[in-house]
Amino acid sequence: MEEDIKAKIKLIIDHTYGTWRAQKAWKSPLFITKAEGAYFWDHTGKRYLDFSSQLMCSNLGHGNKAIINAICEQAQKLPYVAPGFIEESKAKAVQALLEVMPENLEMFFFSTSGTEANEAAVKIARLYFEKEGKYKIISRYHSYHGATAASITLTGDPRRWWAERARTTIAGVRHAPDPYCYRCPFGLKYPECDLACVRYLDYMIKEEGNVAAVLLEPVVGTNGIIVPPKEYYKMVREICDENDVLFIVDEVMSGWYRTGKPFAIEHWGVVPDILTTAKGATGAYTPLGITATTREIRDYFEENVLSHGHTYAHHPLALSALPAAVEEYKKLFESGRLQKVSEYLGKRLYELAEDHPCVGDVRGLGHFWGLETVKNRETKEPFNVKSDKFVRPLMNDKIAAEARKRGLYVVNWYIQLLIAPPLTITKEQVDEAIDILDEALKVADKEAEKTDTPPSKSSEGIIY
Ligand SMILES: Cc1ncc(COP(=O)(O)O)c(C=O)c1O
Repeated sequence: MEEDIKAKIKLIIDHTYGTWRAQKAWKSPLFITKAEGAYFWDHTGKRYLDFSSQLMCSNLGHGNKAIINAICEQAQKLPYVAPGFIEESKAKAVQALLEVMPENLEMFFFSTSGTEANEAAVKIARLYFEKEGKYKIISRYHSYHGATAASITLTGDPRRWWAERARTTIAGVRHAPDPYCYRCPFGLKYPECDLACVRYLDYMIKEEGNVAAVLLEPVVGTNGIIVPPKEYYKMVREICDENDVLFIVDEVMSGWYRTGKPFAIEHWGVVPDILTTAKGATGAYTPLGITATTREIRDYFEENVLSHGHTYAHHPLALSALPAAVEEYKKLFESGRLQKVSEYLGKRLYELAEDHPCVGDVRGLGHFWGLETVKNRETKEPFNVKSDKFVRPLMNDKIAAEARKRGLYVVNWYIQLLIAPPLTITKEQVDEAIDILDEALKVADKEAEKTDTPPSKSSEGIIY
């Protein structure tokens, strides 16, 4: 058995590309044999508590029978038809979406990833303003929007730098400053800052000219779990309206109750013109990307060509998981369990940070949290900076490796550890994870300076 698995691992490593890495770092991936609820197991029988829902996408945990059955039924009945045809799964998916999407977002394009959902959004926005010659898109530095040309250009994180080297980016994208209150790009403090970051967006739009859309993650995911202040998106909406610019939200990671509401933008009481999502849409049981727009945008394409599609657009198997996932989300939300556990999770993370000098800031909401690690809480000197990613080992890699050794899986990035467990996680499992993190963080504590400064809670109370 052991030899057989070793041979399979070798086969995979010898014949497949590892993602986002120099291939020499694609050496010893875990061979996963089973996953149930908030846990998964490797081939040695070792169990891991999944504190990041794989890639912040297995929001409903693993092994959900209702979703699996829905997919199996569709596979038996009609696994594929060309996107120009329609069949039952599309009708059910649209019905389910109309129940949860923010009002006005009622037209859908279905693809198979968050990347594709954003590519479609960019194309729609640019075509919509084609006659006016408006094509520029503004996103932010602390962002990730996908791996292919348009979406990686929108991205602000270091993955874009590599796409730029590969000359696979597009023209006409600008990056705006972030509402990153822990490290304000203007050196200001909320609320005295008078939201300089969002005011600067207005300045950018006017100075740039030809701006078609502003595309933002309502709560930034991988690049910092940044929760903007309560006034932020109302101001963005007003700025977009005044300048006749579309407002697009990327809810690929922040959607599907991850932040405690169906979609994160709803915390700010604002409706965008386009919403993109993927990941949690099916709890990652099938690959599905969704680009949702208003009817007004759709009406433009009544006479104008929407030149977009894929062989796997509107794929019945991808769509089949969505209605079942929506039902599961609604049940979780209506039971009140989601809210109780997320409150508990936040409280435990704040407590954890108190004991660890390496934790500079704890921020988030719902089941979506980041622990920003620092060498020195007082000066906020980081262990690593953006340009370290892909170039040298990160302190957060070490913490995550220690956690994994102890049976906890947690995704990390150069800034932070990403805490995004399945929404089905129990309080006891939260405790189990916190106990392991308590040990794992000691790896970084050893290299952090002891100061009298307490950990910052930069998102606390920011939108409520
Ligand atoms: C906010 C955001 N947008 C887009 C994407 C890209 O989605 P995918 O990896 O499904 O292409 C991601 C992936 O992590 C994401 O977090």
